[in-house]
Amino acid sequence: MGYEMDNILITENQLMQKVKEIGTQIRQDFQDEPLVFIIVLKGAFVFAADLIRVLNGKVMIDFVVASSYGNQTVTTGKVRLLKDIDVNITGKNVVLVEDIIDSGLTLSFLKEHFQLHKPKSMKICTLLDKPERRKVDLKADYVGFVIPDKFIIGYGIDYAEMYRNLPYIATIKEV
Ligand code: PRP
Ligand code: MN
Ligand code: MG
Repeated sequence: MGYEMDNILITENQLMQKVKEIGTQIRQDFQDEPLVFIIVLKGAFVFAADLIRVLNGKVMIDFVVASSYGNQTVTTGKVRLLKDIDVNITGKNVVLVEDIIDSGLTLSFLKEHFQLHKPKSMKICTLLDKPERRKVDLKADYVGFVIPDKFIIGYGIDYAEMYRNLPYIATIKEV
């Protein structure tokens, strides 16, 4: 028993269009203030790479590695912080960039962690949101697409570390 790609849920064009919308909105909200994007690896790397390239003005980026799923399709409930940021975010406008919010555990852990650094502001930006699956109260400030509770892959998102290279978002099915 395994998994394989089912249907395309969000096309490459729809992704590009949404990324532009989000980037425009963020820049409008912060005007010409510098921004620090904290990208949650691995999943968010593709979305973030596109997002930063539609943002004008001063942008810093850094990465954090957090993982809670391992090779499972359900969260283990325990977030592991495998790499912290290097840039100083104290007094800065921070945007946490995620590919997807599911239980909310990863981002609520990271949000609390980065609040200790006393940023000027902290926003959450996620490409995908599965609100049905929330285990903790967490809302994103910028959301690309609200999606149903189906396991999805592509555009950075994996199943057992595979499929991150797909340029679209697709569902997978058990075979
Ligand atoms: C996935 C996804 C988010 C998180 C969302 O990461 O990329 O980071 O889970 O789930 P949550 O809201 O229930 O915490 P994963 O742990 O699979 O690591 P990866 O990004 O390296 O694939
Ligand atoms: Mn992730
Ligand atoms: Mg994963």
